[in-house]
Amino acid sequence: MSFHSFEQAPARLNRSELAVPGSQPQMFEKAAQSEVDVIFLDLEDAVAPDEKEQARRNIIKALNEIDWGNKTMSVRINGLDTHYMYRDVVDVVEQAGERLDLIMIPKVGTAADVYAVDMMVTQIEDARGYKKRIGFEHIIETALGMQNVHEIAAASKRNESLHFGVADYAASTRARTTIIGGVNPDYSVLTDPLEDGSRDVHWGDMWHYALARMVVAARANGLRPIDGPFGDFQDPEGYRAAARRAAVLGCEGKWAIHPSQIVLANEVMSPSEAEITKANRILAAMAEAEAAGKGAVSLDGRLIDYASIRQAEVLVEKARRIAAE
Ligand code: GLV
Ligand code: MG
Repeated sequence: MSFHSFEQAPARLNRSELAVPGSQPQMFEKAAQSEVDVIFLDLEDAVAPDEKEQARRNIIKALNEIDWGNKTMSVRINGLDTHYMYRDVVDVVEQAGERLDLIMIPKVGTAADVYAVDMMVTQIEDARGYKKRIGFEHIIETALGMQNVHEIAAASKRNESLHFGVADYAASTRARTTIIGGVNPDYSVLTDPLEDGSRDVHWGDMWHYALARMVVAARANGLRPIDGPFGDFQDPEGYRAAARRAAVLGCEGKWAIHPSQIVLANEVMSPSEAEITKANRILAAMAEAEAAGKGAVSLDGRLIDYASIRQAEVLVEKARRIAAE
């Protein structure tokens, strides 16, 4: 390990994160009853400009009055380039800060953006005498945010997670696609012709680089990397495939923009029984080897070393948290 150390964000389940528009209070109760790990009540892009103030009032009331159980509660404020943002922070934190776990900052572009919100939240928390500190989730969804993703990740002790906002990211980078989080036939490789002249098309994942880059910045700073929306909620298989790709790269969770996607995210982002059993066997084999004074052992014909143990420990700890829910 490097001599450089960093703190891990507080451990929370974040397999699924449900977007709920603040302007649709009739959806709140159902969200509270759902199986989702994190809910963000939205003041930003799901809310039209003339509904922003009412949405803010709805959210404040709902945070105070609805029983959200043990769900992690977040509010997505408006961007720092709008005049809504300061009132979002002041009103929501002043009036509902005690039930708020996280603030989601959209379109974050620089470390100074994080600093500005941190300063405001700190003043309000201190003035109100809140004991709990509100954490931050940042949506990396602009070219500027991706350019500065490492500085953003390190910009505040409140930081907990980075989210890949694929829709705005596509707009910001002028990617030639309009499908939210889906694949694109134009992003494919055409194989050379075989002897019979036939050629294959291999579809690629146009979001691979962006997501992988965000995962590195998150993990290097102890934060959770979370994959963002998948627009076509009629396509559960497409959602699962996108979630699996994100999980393979290191993401811990994925957004649900429709309640039907919650179960898909929880399923893909939870370790399977087989993985848990294997991880427990690795830990048991290593404990046995240590007791016998051996540094490395093999299990089922494969070498297990300390890296395998760390992977197994992470997995078993996650399974424990899920079981405790
Ligand atoms: C999320 O906010 C996105 O733009 O994908
Ligand atoms: Mg967005």
